[in-house]
Amino acid sequence: MCGIVGYTGTREAAPILLDGLSRLEYRGYDSAGLAIRNGTELARVVKATGKLKNLAEKTDNGRSLPGTCGIGHTRWATHGEPNQTNAHPHVSGNARRSASGPVESDVVGVHNGIIENFEELKQKLLNNGYQFYSGTDTEVVIKLVDYYYKKYKIGPVDAINRMMVRVKGSYALVLMFRDYPGEIYAARKDSPMIIGVTGEESFAASDVPAILKYTRTVYYMGNLECARMIPGSVTFYDLNGDEVQKDTTEITWDAESAEKGGFEHFMIKEIHEQPKAMHDTLNSIIRDGRIDLSGAELTDEILQKTSQVYIVACGSAWHAGMAGQYVIEDLAELPVRVELASEFRYRKLLLEKDALVIVISQSGETADSLAALRIAREKGIRTLAVVNVVGSTIAREADHVLYTLAGPEIAVATTKAYCAQLAAMYCLALQMALVRGRLDPERYTAMIEELLTIPDKIEKVLEDKGRIQWFSSKFANAQDVFFIGRGLDYAISLEGSLKMKEVSYIHSESYAAGELKHGTISLVEDNTLVIGVLTQNDLIEKTTSNMTECKARGAYLMGLTSYGNYSIEDVADFTIYVPKTDSHFVGSLAVVPLQLLGYYTGVARGLDVDKPRNLAKSVTVE
Ligand code: AGP
Repeated sequence: MCGIVGYTGTREAAPILLDGLSRLEYRGYDSAGLAIRNGTELARVVKATGKLKNLAEKTDNGRSLPGTCGIGHTRWATHGEPNQTNAHPHVSGNARRSASGPVESDVVGVHNGIIENFEELKQKLLNNGYQFYSGTDTEVVIKLVDYYYKKYKIGPVDAINRMMVRVKGSYALVLMFRDYPGEIYAARKDSPMIIGVTGEESFAASDVPAILKYTRTVYYMGNLECARMIPGSVTFYDLNGDEVQKDTTEITWDAESAEKGGFEHFMIKEIHEQPKAMHDTLNSIIRDGRIDLSGAELTDEILQKTSQVYIVACGSAWHAGMAGQYVIEDLAELPVRVELASEFRYRKLLLEKDALVIVISQSGETADSLAALRIAREKGIRTLAVVNVVGSTIAREADHVLYTLAGPEIAVATTKAYCAQLAAMYCLALQMALVRGRLDPERYTAMIEELLTIPDKIEKVLEDKGRIQWFSSKFANAQDVFFIGRGLDYAISLEGSLKMKEVSYIHSESYAAGELKHGTISLVEDNTLVIGVLTQNDLIEKTTSNMTECKARGAYLMGLTSYGNYSIEDVADFTIYVPKTDSHFVGSLAVVPLQLLGYYTGVARGLDVDKPRNLAKSVTVE
């Protein structure tokens, strides 16, 4: 949450920072701000509430802020309401100020994360003569750096290190010091921060897309590290102030994949990129018709020894885990528990020593998923990360990493990363089933062949998008939508329902079809839209009966099934078909019309589908 960009170099900083922030806006977008230094002049700070375009307008696209060194921020509020005063950058000076102009401050900075002990630190600073103009924890941390800087008459690195020892919580901070023109300092704990250096320029950013246009060679900052950037060079320090040597990582994503490429929104572009996301992910794991997990260092022996699987994740990644659970249990006959990371971290689960904890995450930075991973590791349980962002914290800390190759995902509502996560889960399930002797080699080969056809079948589903667009406009004013399904269909319903509520703001719920009559059916009335997912042949009749129960209460029924199941039309008012495939993989097809339904409904309601209200893509706070 919150996007940070920093730049020091030879070009004008403000337009570069605005461009970088525009690629990070998915991390938060309730306000934004810039602090720019022109040579040795004081920093000038400009902030604006709302989307980044307000800041761009206010600064004439950065032209009104000359200078080659600066920091920028796009905010997702945690402490303090989303207004201009609370927007970043924050300054160490005491004056309440809102107009743009030079600031009489020794330290100015931007922050992503949460400072847990900020009240206590604020009191300490108040006792030492500091005043506060905002309700943010960020202002506290910046004033704390200022306090140590002046009290001990030390340099920026030492002042930042003292702050890091004192502060509890998570943060990525980028700071400028009045006495050090042309220099930017960064610090991090549990919130992502990358540094890029190229020629005479240095960049800091919370995520790769912000600087991809300028460099693909990046350093990942480690926890409790500090960095000093000057144009074209960076030095890293540990908590003792000693230099840390680091290797660079080459980002292989191409810059175009972080652009809209002719589509109206990132979400619809990413829905269309699913065949490629699935194809690339499968082809990175399947070699010569066999699943090869050597890249993740997952040997057959490890899989054979695994006695229990825990899948831990949040949101859509948790839904991918739900689908994975059904497939692993059915194919590999291995017990699986799927846990919400935010619950897992505080439950005193008795984890089996030969368990495998699989953490699924697109960003690899989700705070709850990261905490769950660390708990599993502390308990000595083997961990596997299924992650999309290369070099992310979860990927770096897990024992094993299986990368999904969805490429950069910009829309806040995930689609192609979820699709790639399903692909990874299918591969894990198939290999577990083979090495545990639950799947004979012929069926294993046949299932892999079928799996490799899924990307083309997703293309076929996308060809039918016109019907879904029409249907979405018909129900764009719905009050409530219910998604029902059993087994794997329930897992897919969960994801369909989340897409609907995230981007259309229509209240929607997903229910295990058999559970509806235990309470929720009381909400069904005339014309309530009930969407039945019916792809599992052995469960279709059961779910159809539940749909009929809804129809008897006035519901309008949409059925989602595979070609051939034409009897659904006897019950449903509107039916969508997806190509036939193995029942374990059909969720990858069935989810696509549901993603389109959420997308087109959001568009029909005139909403900002790429950046829905109140959300952020990477939830790096608890
Ligand atoms: C999905 O559309 C959401 N944006 C959200 O539920 C997301 O899947 C969740 O926050 C987990 O994120 P992660 O995959 O980056 O860990």
